Amino acid sequence: MSTLTGLIYRNVVKPVLFKIPADRVHEFFLQSGSVLGKSNIAKSMIHALWAYDDPMLVQTIHDIRFPNPIGLSAGFDYNADLVPLLPSMGFGFNTVGTLTHEAYEGNTPPMLGRLPKSQSLLVNKGFKNKGIRNILPHMRSRGRGAPVGVSIGATNKPYATFDAMLDDIIAGFNEANAFPDFDYFELNISCPNLVNLQNLPDQISSPTGLKSVLERLAHLELQRPVFIKMPLERSFDQTQQLCDTAAPYAFIKGLIFSNLVKDRNNPAFDPEEIKKAGKGNFSGKPTQAQSDELIAFAYRKYKERFTIIGVGGVFTAEDAYRKIKLGASLVQMITGMIYQGPQIIGEINQGIAALLAKDGYHSIAEAVGTGCR
Ligand SMILES: Cc1cc2nc3c(=O)[nH]c(=O)nc-3n(C[C@H](O)[C@H](O)[C@H](O)COP(=O)(O)O)c2cc1C
Repeated sequence: MSTLTGLIYRNVVKPVLFKIPADRVHEFFLQSGSVLGKSNIAKSMIHALWAYDDPMLVQTIHDIRFPNPIGLSAGFDYNADLVPLLPSMGFGFNTVGTLTHEAYEGNTPPMLGRLPKSQSLLVNKGFKNKGIRNILPHMRSRGRGAPVGVSIGATNKPYATFDAMLDDIIAGFNEANAFPDFDYFELNISCPNLVNLQNLPDQISSPTGLKSVLERLAHLELQRPVFIKMPLERSFDQTQQLCDTAAPYAFIKGLIFSNLVKDRNNPAFDPEEIKKAGKGNFSGKPTQAQSDELIAFAYRKYKERFTIIGVGGVFTAEDAYRKIKLGASLVQMITGMIYQGPQIIGEINQGIAALLAKDGYHSIAEAVGTGCR
């Protein structure tokens, strides 16, 4: 049934959807997903059609039970509309957001675009969201069947000083921390197209900027794990400096590699397609190679210290399994789902289980990092 869904999605549904502006399709999916998530019958049917459960895929990481390693990455469910639905679709976890202390209506549209030949999406949202205090209270009543994380960043506005931006991030964490109904935080230091990251010299994604935010966060005594969403287009040296900055802070449990591509000379782009692309940054295939390299680099150097989450250009079980073998304990995705269809999550999980069995492993933990020793 899953194979049939994939065929119908790619050959019938996607060609129609791809004729409609991407912003509108995204909103349509959030609204219909929110409605479906309220129906137990719909969720059971979707689960039966698409999800794949296997004890081999279950992991407990930082005391959180993940039913499988495939999560929805930050940015798709930016107002937490899909929290009840996503586990039925087969997701093993979901990061909502990036949420900010203040609501933000989003950058001037179009906020999304498609580059099908490059297997990429153009992203220009700038952390569109209703604001932490308007979202998290509702998340509680919606229930959940898999771990949920909250990604927090700075509200997208110009700040007079770097400290003013820090105040905004800390206010966001403080506000979110009052709500019990999620399992982990993501600290987003890496969205490449925010106003506030461009007008301040001491950026949050520099070692000194990161140290400042971590010093302030340390005072909050957060009880839930924090994962840092890392920038993609950094050298190993620059990445190491950020990792070394984070290492002394015990509440930072892991690193997520990585965020979007900014460099339009990335060789994975179709040259004609990228020339026509509007304002924004890019997901999907162009993020894949560098994400894999950073996962392997971080695993080699920091495997004892950090849990690694891999994200960027996952379209198949092989893509996800490669990230696991390079050192990722968990994997996130968005773009693969848009191009392949909603059944892809279960297919990837089934494929990972088969690949584990083929290699003679009994669990994901046994496979993590085996490709980089
Ligand atoms: C529509 C869209 C919105 C995104 N918004 C965010 C965001 O708010 N916060 C964030 O940390 N990453 C954001 N990202 C980046 C993704 O979380 C992910 O790191 C990136 O897309 C690579 O994964 P993929 O190739 O599977 O899409 C966004 C990506 C997309 C496609």
